Amino acid sequence: MTHARPLRSTTTGAIRGSIRVPGDKSISHRSLMLGAIAVGETVIHGLLEGEDVLHTAAAMRLLGAEAERSEDGVWRVRGVGLGALQEPAQVLDMGNSGTAARLLMGLVAGHPITCVFTGDASLNKRPMARVTKPLEEMGARFVGRSGGRLPLTVVGSGELVPITYRLPVASAQVKSAILLAGLNTAGATTVIEAEPTRDHTELMLRHFGATVTTERLEDGALAVTVIGQPELTGRTIHVPADPSSAAFPAVAALLRPGSDLLLNDVGMNPRRTGLYDTLVEMGADIAFENRRDQAGEPVADLRVKHSALKGIVVPADRAPSMIDEYPVLAAAAACAEGTTVMLGLKELRVKESDRLAMVAEGLTRCGVSVEVGADDSLTVHGTGGTGKGPKGGASVATAMDHRIAMSFLVLGMASEEPISVDDGAFIDTSFPDFVGLMNRLGAKIGEA
Ligand code: S3P
Repeated sequence: MTHARPLRSTTTGAIRGSIRVPGDKSISHRSLMLGAIAVGETVIHGLLEGEDVLHTAAAMRLLGAEAERSEDGVWRVRGVGLGALQEPAQVLDMGNSGTAARLLMGLVAGHPITCVFTGDASLNKRPMARVTKPLEEMGARFVGRSGGRLPLTVVGSGELVPITYRLPVASAQVKSAILLAGLNTAGATTVIEAEPTRDHTELMLRHFGATVTTERLEDGALAVTVIGQPELTGRTIHVPADPSSAAFPAVAALLRPGSDLLLNDVGMNPRRTGLYDTLVEMGADIAFENRRDQAGEPVADLRVKHSALKGIVVPADRAPSMIDEYPVLAAAAACAEGTTVMLGLKELRVKESDRLAMVAEGLTRCGVSVEVGADDSLTVHGTGGTGKGPKGGASVATAMDHRIAMSFLVLGMASEEPISVDDGAFIDTSFPDFVGLMNRLGAKIGEA
């Protein structure tokens, strides 16, 4: 991704239509990784073909698995069997994806192979010690840059020792890395999490035949245990539409008068739906229709109508269930009536960009009054109820961050003057054809 792609979003009318946003990114990464270490064929329907996931597919091929897309859009993975990943002859380039890098570091740590990981300028800035520390306790070795950053070399082992590890940060990526390392480790590997984070790894491990148990401890924390060396068998997977991607058209529909939008097949795993709970508390008219189960994950069709939103306080303990949705919530809050306070946002500082800083800076440029607290809170003073949206008329920096780009393009749909983003190219990491899809619904997003 060498050329920046500046984009501009102009005030729009109603957002109407019925769509399915692309597949869930978290589930897509995991389906390729588990498919690659299972015996037999894994058939994946609805895989997200965003750049982040394509990096995982390429890495799994370098590690010896077959992973190909058929003409009908279905992906087929032929696994090598647990413990049989091959040493890659090339550097594993994880692009922009923290999930790909961290989960795969855990998976290869439990194999007797040496792998070199790298990423783009954003990923190579992100902290990896949170993953390498527990994996070192298990017996893997790492040589990285300062702070454990990429590029980094993993020297894995087929004889790791199981650990019990209490997560110092609420992170599904760290939890998953340890569980995946525990797969090829004799005995029980346990991760304790004080706050529940997304559990797609646990659900999918069970789907492939592993034993994964969860137990509530006396202090309320959850202990998640995987029993090592299971027989994993190739499975069929139906990837739900990504609730984190659905958030962008959903918020656009809430903000634009006359909107009526149907979002089909959206993943409704309760550890992912914090944004939707928050929007409903703010007064959003969202109906969760046709709730059902799809290959172990709950899904629903969401009917979203224009709503007058009101500011609220979003508690810190909700952060893990909406960690990727704060930028678009901030866009909604900027258009709401009254003040929205979002608490406990420290982790936003180590995402694809420092999202707390980027959101605050971008909103300020767009004429929205915001405060970042010393406690990593974000306060947004909404412009709603005035009959006017935020002023807009600004160009916003995105710092290689897809969600910052999409959030400000959504805000541009509701602001008085157009909003530009300096680079929309990274949107392809998670939401291919975001611009085409939004424009078909009524948005006016084009080259800046
Ligand atoms: C993810 C976990 C989250 C999230 C990321 C995807 C995953 O990161 O921000 O986009 O698939 O496990 P953390 O677990 O580090 O918070």
